[in-house]
Amino acid sequence: MAEMVQGAVEDRGVVVIEARRELTEGVVELTLARPDGSRLPDWAPGAHIDLVLADGTVRQYSLCGDRWDAHRYRIAVQREDDGRGGSRAVHALRSGDTIGFGGPRNTFRLAPAPEYLFVAGGIGITPLLPMVRQAELLDIPWRMLYLGRSRERLAYLDELSRHGDRVHVHDAGELGRADLDTWRPADAATRVYACGPSRLLDAVEAWGAPPAGHAPRVERFTALTDTTAAATRFEAVAARSGVRVTVEPHETLAGALARGGVRVVTSCGQGVCGTCETDVLAGVPDHRDTLLDDDERRAGQCMFPCVSRSRGDLLVLDL
Ligand code: FES
Repeated sequence: MAEMVQGAVEDRGVVVIEARRELTEGVVELTLARPDGSRLPDWAPGAHIDLVLADGTVRQYSLCGDRWDAHRYRIAVQREDDGRGGSRAVHALRSGDTIGFGGPRNTFRLAPAPEYLFVAGGIGITPLLPMVRQAELLDIPWRMLYLGRSRERLAYLDELSRHGDRVHVHDAGELGRADLDTWRPADAATRVYACGPSRLLDAVEAWGAPPAGHAPRVERFTALTDTTAAATRFEAVAARSGVRVTVEPHETLAGALARGGVRVVTSCGQGVCGTCETDVLAGVPDHRDTLLDDDERRAGQCMFPCVSRSRGDLLVLDL
């Protein structure tokens, strides 16, 4: 997960770049620690942190190190030369530099399952590495399909090599596009976790949920394109604050609440990072995020007001 836009972030302090390593062409790994060496907040596989860059913009990066090392975070960042500059700023960091951070936060949690299939595209390997470690620790069978334009560009192949043929690397430059449907699990109990480019995730999501099984969980780098879908006016109530606002078609729910004096902490503003997660007390959300799966959308218990709206005339939030 990466390349978010400017916004507020829950301040968790500062980390120092303890080590910097070029993993492949265009991918740098940073090891982060507290300047005083004290422990960092705990996290679980699938979590990410916010980094607050020098110009105040905030980017999210998946934690890809050892969750049991309480004193270090590890991230790996792909440089996007035609991106908005966040990855270039992270690549410019050097050992000894300090940077603000927020989180960790987890919108891509690993649910218990008898078996896992992990699908990684390029730098999408990062949130999946701790999941692999967790599956190994719990002795749960797993397989991984790891795709990229060339092996030389795929990070952590050395780390994964000890897992033998559990990890299948698909070099698209050599072999062409992978036939993803051959990877669709035959066993409905297998849970699928995927991270990578949109086209890959669209294809994995198209597998859908098998009967009595679970739909694949995906983590996207960018917002879904339908976040700008037609919007209508509705009323929103922040129940704990006793505030009621009208959300106009041209504004976000988070923006309308802020206008009413209820601040929702946001970061990406695109429904991809999870920072603004808010519980719903009444009403039916119009989910426009990339974070919730179908079951969570149907349950309607939480939503992301930076992008999501209301299906009905009224939404009551636990704010
Ligand atoms: Fe990122 Fe709402 S601020 S999901």
